[in-house]
Amino acid sequence: MSTFEWTPDLVTGNELIDSQHHTLFRYANDLLDAIEDAEVDDEAAEVYVWRLTDYVMEHFADEQDLMESVHYPERGIHVGMHDTLTGETMRLTARVMRGEIVAAPEIAKLITKWMREHILTADKQFVTYLSAQQ
Ligand SMILES: [Fe+2]
Repeated sequence: MSTFEWTPDLVTGNELIDSQHHTLFRYANDLLDAIEDAEVDDEAAEVYVWRLTDYVMEHFADEQDLMESVHYPERGIHVGMHDTLTGETMRLTARVMRGEIVAAPEIAKLITKWMREHILTADKQFVTYLSAQQ
């Protein structure tokens, strides 16, 4: 079951950012599937949570490089949001690695918050600025 549906309103207009967001959705869906199937294969959840966390950090670093390159005035606030989201993702990873049963709806809530809400507000705001500089 895939829960994180990609919808057209999520498109920011920046090719790199959009393609990375797309991949994040795919990885988040894989993790959720693995969690739901945890009784069948509990190691899959560990693999997928790491893959997602790794990619989240890579994506945030790429976004922050872009912000740096255009001296985005809001970058301090945006980076602060990334730090909070990274912390939440790392906490989730630690729980999965400890073998804790993390309920799928809880994961869905967390990921929806940092993916959908962050993209729709902060990322779109940044891409608007970025486009105006190019
Ligand atoms: Fe962002």
